[in-house]
Amino acid sequence: MENQVKQRSSFTGSLGFVLAAAGSAVGLGNIWRFPYLAAKDGGGLFLLVYLVLAVTFGFALLITEIAIGRKTQESPLTAYKKINSKWGFLGVLSFVVPFIIYPYYCVIGGWVMKYMFSYLAFQGSVTAADGFFTGFITAQWQPIFYTVLFAILCFIIVYKGVEHGIEKYSRILMPVLVVIVVFIAIYSLTISHTDANGVTRTGLQGAAVYFVPNFEGITFKKFLYIILDAMGQLFYSLSIAMGIMVTYGSYMKKEENLVKSVNHIEIFDTGIAVLAGMMIIPAVFAFSGTEGMSAGPGLMFITLPKVFNSLGKFGDFIGLIFFVMVLFAALTSAVSILEAITSSMMDKFKWSRKKSTLIMAASTFVISIIVCLGYNVFYFDLKFPNGAVGQILDILDYASNNILMPIVGLLTCILIGWIAKPKTTIDEITLNGEKFGRKTLYIVMIKVVAPILLFIILLTGLGVI
Ligand code: PHE
Repeated sequence: MENQVKQRSSFTGSLGFVLAAAGSAVGLGNIWRFPYLAAKDGGGLFLLVYLVLAVTFGFALLITEIAIGRKTQESPLTAYKKINSKWGFLGVLSFVVPFIIYPYYCVIGGWVMKYMFSYLAFQGSVTAADGFFTGFITAQWQPIFYTVLFAILCFIIVYKGVEHGIEKYSRILMPVLVVIVVFIAIYSLTISHTDANGVTRTGLQGAAVYFVPNFEGITFKKFLYIILDAMGQLFYSLSIAMGIMVTYGSYMKKEENLVKSVNHIEIFDTGIAVLAGMMIIPAVFAFSGTEGMSAGPGLMFITLPKVFNSLGKFGDFIGLIFFVMVLFAALTSAVSILEAITSSMMDKFKWSRKKSTLIMAASTFVISIIVCLGYNVFYFDLKFPNGAVGQILDILDYASNNILMPIVGLLTCILIGWIAKPKTTIDEITLNGEKFGRKTLYIVMIKVVAPILLFIILLTGLGVI
């Protein structure tokens, strides 16, 4: 036990923990995926379904992971084994997930950096030109350069540790992010645009498309798809099933109130997602109507630069602060992935933070370069079981998000719900006699509802549904 004497790092307090965890949760998922799904799935209807799932399904999964971390004081690779000695394999699985995600997340972070620098260099109109995005990602050196730049930033923050790295930067980046999102969301409502056919659309009309539930053409089947979309989004958005929340939970002080902290993280994450919708949907609607929203993944890198460009000089400024904000969101998320891996290595092999981060930096360097080259030297098209087509980046994304994450989530529910029993986490949640209002709901969720929902997500990912 000699080498255990060194005290585990911790966040300084509740605010530091909530900002760091919210930093992980608020990422690209909130900024482009949530608005796009909301527009596709009947606006207010999707919002309503999402909110109900957030305070039930999302709440149960998030609090479970944080409680596992705080109870065991270990990161995922070793934490699950401590809950039940036969379940160490779940720790290995939840170590593999962030390991797969991290390299490609850095590549996307690199793309965001490229856009930010383009706006900084007053290149707004070049950025909006047709073919800019494809031209950039298929180029050989530029994407690698920006990916490495992004990865270096993450490395520095994680290298500095929990309190002086992650917490310190989250305390600066997250409030700035909120201010920028609110500013652009308000501005977006004031936009008005008349197209070539003389049709004028305003940001306020776009906001109505977003907030007012649209029941037109809703069938039972369609409604089920909306629930599935909302569930998948929630799961991804809360950074669940990749060991991150277990890791951050292990840095949480025993005297903090878990229920309150989880509520705050959820309010933060959902609030930013809703505001991101207010920022993007009205603007895109004013310029290209509802069809513009169906751009999907290309929305952020292709459609939005065109919207910014149509706004003239001020649009260049909006473009710049938009990509600064996206960079902050991506950075705090990437840092949390890197920390989950680093911390697992430190706990399992008793390596120093320095050694663990350096090993990760080297492996990321190699894998991310391969991901970048997936758009040129190693280019191929692969069809996934769910019908989507993609390259190396999408393969990693598919394997982690559609297959491994639902499996880890499902197994966590089985472990806590049936093997170790919910008392394991409930005791940790109510350690200082805290009130746990949703206790019965929590037990039902973790034992029955969440595993069923996760199984359905997995079947969707596998293309069975
Ligand atoms: N939760 C993040 C989001 O909403 C996504 C994320 C994925 C974060 C992987 C960390 C790790 O965008």
